[in-house]
Amino acid sequence: TFTEVTHAAPMLSLDNVFDDDEMRQWAERTAKGLNIEIDELDVVVEPKIDGLALTVTYVNGEFIQAATRGDGRTGEDVTANVATMASVPRRLPVTSAGRIDIRGEVFMSSEDFDELNRRQAAAGEKLFANPRNTAAGSLRQKDPHATAQRPLQFLAYQMVVVDGHDELASITSHVDVLRCLEEWGFLTAPTTQHVLGQDALLAAAEWFAVHRHDLPYEIDGVVIKVDDLLDRERLGSTSRAPRWAIARKLPPEECTTALISIEVSVGRTGRATPYAVLEPVVVAGSTVSLATLHNEDQVRLKDVRPGDTVIVRKAGDVIPEIVGPVLTKGQRRQPPWEFPSQCPECHGEFVRRGEESDTYCINPACPAQTRAQIEHFASRNAMDIEGLGEQRVVQLLTEGLIRDVADLYDVQIENLAQLEGMGDLSATSLVTAIQSSRAQPLSRVLIGLGIRHVGPVAARALAQTFTTLEALRRASSDAIGAIPGVGPVIAASVVTFMEDADNRRLLDRLLAAGVKCEEPQVVSDVPATLTGKAVVVTGTLDGFSRDEAEAAVVQRGGTSPGSVSKKTFCVVVGVSPGASKVSKATELDIPIVPQERFIELLETGEIPT
Ligand code: IVH
Repeated sequence: TFTEVTHAAPMLSLDNVFDDDEMRQWAERTAKGLNIEIDELDVVVEPKIDGLALTVTYVNGEFIQAATRGDGRTGEDVTANVATMASVPRRLPVTSAGRIDIRGEVFMSSEDFDELNRRQAAAGEKLFANPRNTAAGSLRQKDPHATAQRPLQFLAYQMVVVDGHDELASITSHVDVLRCLEEWGFLTAPTTQHVLGQDALLAAAEWFAVHRHDLPYEIDGVVIKVDDLLDRERLGSTSRAPRWAIARKLPPEECTTALISIEVSVGRTGRATPYAVLEPVVVAGSTVSLATLHNEDQVRLKDVRPGDTVIVRKAGDVIPEIVGPVLTKGQRRQPPWEFPSQCPECHGEFVRRGEESDTYCINPACPAQTRAQIEHFASRNAMDIEGLGEQRVVQLLTEGLIRDVADLYDVQIENLAQLEGMGDLSATSLVTAIQSSRAQPLSRVLIGLGIRHVGPVAARALAQTFTTLEALRRASSDAIGAIPGVGPVIAASVVTFMEDADNRRLLDRLLAAGVKCEEPQVVSDVPATLTGKAVVVTGTLDGFSRDEAEAAVVQRGGTSPGSVSKKTFCVVVGVSPGASKVSKATELDIPIVPQERFIELLETGEIPT
């Protein structure tokens, strides 16, 4: 229903390459075409934003039209909708008459997309599949008011002087174009790199592969463009794509596969989590066959059903997620999935409390909970008992060697060695690992006990304040709640846990087994130079691991959050920093401290000048 627009010059596509070899071939071909050596190849490497291409037309500096790419020759007139976007300037400060087309990408930032979906979920509305499709849908709304409600942005990467504007003849390179676009108020990509020669080109493209998830938007590759505009003319284009540019694609992070069934697993707190059993599929480099569906509401919002074809997404290290079904018109589907009413393990009743989205198995004797509790107790961040993983815990439980975590300390080598798949050697090392865990500090014991609301930070605060389990058991909820960073919710949860008769018996047995439950005191004579100051660290610093750098800040009374906000005191930038943190700092005018000045910052608590 949009009017057709014929583009002043066709909006070409890009040829793709999928690996370094193909990219080298392009570089060689291009250098040859320009009659230069390969290390003289002067290119710009930009993120390839996963959005949709748009041409914005200005006549005598006035915004008059916006059109989608369409088939490249003609697109759709989306002027009224684009007019609602703040990142498209209404006027350009040009000094002469003429017509300019600015081309770029319309996208939705990852943060805005997540926020939009949070709002959808809160309103019980269907979730959007991904930022790209949402941006496309938002741009093509019939009502511009609807578009205005969507956080769309426009990033500019090309200028076509259609007519007049002689003063722009001084622009002879892509770098000039980008600088001019920025001056005119367009958004450009701050991570763009201008490089010389094949090796630098490959390194720049690799930088984007590594930092893909540090960018504020999703990218599906990088675009490499010859910088000099005359060189571009020399190289020319085919009917489909220019020869002066190439897209180096990155592996996709979304795939489709069949949803075989939806099952429910019960965790250590009794929470019942639905998950999808999938036809195995490779996404972002790893095989995915299971994906969490979080809770009953999420299954309903996503409306996925056994037998559906679904979109699976795996961004970087993030756990795989089901985006939604792929539906075709008139397709027959199974009825909507229903959350079971009983725990699949203990057949106890499932309960959903009040407004909460989560469903619980409330049977404290549920074997699924016991198993998960023991696994958690032994896990790396808790008692760190090597060799006691999920399968071993199941084996010890089914063989009747243990019923809870305190039983672990009574397990004998002889009994273990009898078990299937266990020899004397592995039995000895497991018992040694269990016995050594008795020396773990109180903070780890507290983490391992899985007290509701007590995560690693609260556990450490509790352990450092009370030092021994005995002191913590005697502490009042007021005393606990008074610890900085703890508060009344955690305090109430700790007191409830400590007062429970079963828990009391368990703690007595752990102490009797020789689990020390003491926190070594850290003596600190470090001056509190950074009290109340938030110092964000990004990239690798010389002489400090990331954890050490953050600990150094915390030791001096500061905090070291993972993201930049208005409240950030400064951002310490090391090698290969996160691009989004640096650009956010620049945007908010937060001081940037180079890593060579980090020690000075720690010592003085002031921004080194
Ligand atoms: S340049 C003639 N630069 O990728 C050059 N395109 O696969 C045309 N895209 O239709 C495009 N980021 O929608 C260029 N930095 C970037 C880009 C970019 C994303 C999209 C654009 C284009 C598609 C081609």
